[in-house]
Amino acid sequence: MLDLNEIPTLETPRLRLRRPRERDTDGVAGLFADARYMRFLGDGKTADRAASWRAIAGALGHWVLRDYGFFSIEDKATGLFIGWSGLLHPEGWPGIEIAWGIAPSFWGQGLATEAARSVRDYAFESLRLKRLVSIIHPENTASIRVALKIGERFERSIEFQQKRLQLYAVVAA
Ligand SMILES: CC(C)(COP(=O)(O)OP(=O)(O)OC[C@H]1O[C@@H](n2cnc3c(N)ncnc32)[C@H](O)[C@@H]1OP(=O)(O)O)[C@@H](O)C(=O)NCCC(=O)NCCS
Repeated sequence: MLDLNEIPTLETPRLRLRRPRERDTDGVAGLFADARYMRFLGDGKTADRAASWRAIAGALGHWVLRDYGFFSIEDKATGLFIGWSGLLHPEGWPGIEIAWGIAPSFWGQGLATEAARSVRDYAFESLRLKRLVSIIHPENTASIRVALKIGERFERSIEFQQKRLQLYAVVAA
């Protein structure tokens, strides 16, 4: 069982990906309260602050149970929480998912791609994983662009959580 102190920190030119902490609750609550952010996630509805605390608790529990999980993304210049990215494999998932989410005020600067590339490299080079997937709503064009830019390719349509979604995948070189 992983000790939370073993969660690494990944650095990119603009970002620090670090272990989720309770102090991220405000930042995550900001994402969950924003309809633009939530549009293609889960049931598409916004969620309250209590749900954001539970999401952080769930993210840490995921690290403990699977030895990998989600990172909180900080803007290196300001230390601000600006989103999440990481690896996700709850029971019932169709593979180890690489996922990303950035606060809308930071969209369009290549930040999700920068974060996701470092998570992909960590998964393949440090964890020696062989294959990653992303489950993406067909209208989530920005997310599909990120998937393609980190080397994923469309694999198949899947029925997932009562929705028709698309599975993208990338394998280790
Ligand atoms: C998906 C998401 C993480 C992208 O974040 P980002 O930091 O803006 O992403 P990047 O800047 O790295 O790349 C976005 C790409 O999508 C493109 N894009 C953005 N909005 C778009 C739109 N409405 N239509 C078409 N393309 C779009 C950008 O041009 C860019 O592609 P390019 O480099 O080829 O020009 C962000 O939109 C988000 O957090 N959405 C809500 C959460 C979510 O849906 N997560 C994914 C779940 S599968």
